[in-house]
Amino acid sequence: MNFNGKTVVVTGAARGIGKATALKFGEKGGKVVVCDISMDSLSEVMEELKANQVEALAFEVDVTDREAVEKMMKDVKDQCGSVDVIVNNAGITADGRLVKLEEEAFDKVIDVNLKGVFNCGQAAARIMAEQGSGVILNASSVVGIYGNFGQTNYAATKWGVIGMTKTWAKELGKQGIRVNAVAPGFILTPMVEKMPENVLDMMKDKSPIKKLGKPEDIANAYAFLASEEAGFITGTVLSVDGGVVL
Ligand code: NAI
Repeated sequence: MNFNGKTVVVTGAARGIGKATALKFGEKGGKVVVCDISMDSLSEVMEELKANQVEALAFEVDVTDREAVEKMMKDVKDQCGSVDVIVNNAGITADGRLVKLEEEAFDKVIDVNLKGVFNCGQAAARIMAEQGSGVILNASSVVGIYGNFGQTNYAATKWGVIGMTKTWAKELGKQGIRVNAVAPGFILTPMVEKMPENVLDMMKDKSPIKKLGKPEDIANAYAFLASEEAGFITGTVLSVDGGVVL
């Protein structure tokens, strides 16, 4: 896998899977563009990228803000010459069982996890279509496929992401753009570390390999799907879940 001369945008790159993904693409020779809701939060990943001699740019962008997303993509194109890969990783949870879930929590998760992916995917696709090449990768989840207690809103968005992935793969293939999703299982990041320890132990135990995932496990999947080695793969959902659903 080699991303020399390629520009890779990662949303929600300040920590967790996004940060590991930014570092992985940098390690493989890509120019890396990191974005997150606050510039301060990006200082750590930027320091690590710079320490590894990776050419990197940081943007303070909320993926729900269409204007800010469009401006970022235009700036990336102007400054780097192309947008070759986008990893639509930014995502949130706001859990609650159906009978208790607040409308506000429902809307907030839809806005970031679904509309945010639409905003970034659309802005990137317009540039990629002009280029005649590109790769769009979207963050789904095992929860989108199988559902999860207390996650009506989150599951809806992660299943929605699969629908968008398959639709975009059909629409954009002719323009040389591949689109895929990754469905992580339970990965040890700040998002999951807030789950009760007994639930995490249960998930670990359910996996045939008795493991929870690491952010790097997902970063590796994104790097593979973005690479030329995956040139015949589009419209698919790659589960990276340690077999937890078997
Ligand atoms: P995390 O909570 O550790 O990191 C998410 C990052 O996204 C944070 O830096 C946050 O500031 C950023 N972000 C949130 N809202 C944003 C917005 N509106 N605009 C820009 N950035 C925003 O999450 P984690 O665990 O690294 O997850 C990354 C993605 O992978 C998410 O889409 C998540 O749903 C998905 N995922 C994670 C799993 C896990 O087990 N950790 C399992 C399945 C899917």
